[in-house]
Amino acid sequence: MLNPTFLPVAPVDSLADGACRSVEAGGRRLLLAKVEGRFYVTEDACPHRGASLGGGFLQGCEIFCPLHGWSFDVTHGTGLTRPDKPLRTYRTEVRDGQVWAAITNPEPAAG
Ligand code: FES
Repeated sequence: MLNPTFLPVAPVDSLADGACRSVEAGGRRLLLAKVEGRFYVTEDACPHRGASLGGGFLQGCEIFCPLHGWSFDVTHGTGLTRPDKPLRTYRTEVRDGQVWAAITNPEPAAG
């Protein structure tokens, strides 16, 4: 098994509780959500047709895709509309004022 690399995804103070947005780290587009003071990172491509979930609606731990409304639990990635279509989740850590996510096989930084 490959060891993941923790990469910074966003400053801790850049997201209010109950909010979410798209971020990028290690060449991946990710969804960052803050639920009851804890940060969660998932892939940011809806398993239905690939829409960015960053523009979706977060209610509690449930994110609704802005395109057709499929929903997912951001804490575990469970597909709530389609249990057979979960979201990939990434372990997170808060350190040095940043949220970090464990990314396996990150793309090399450009430049
Ligand atoms: S693209 Fe997300 S529900 Fe269709």
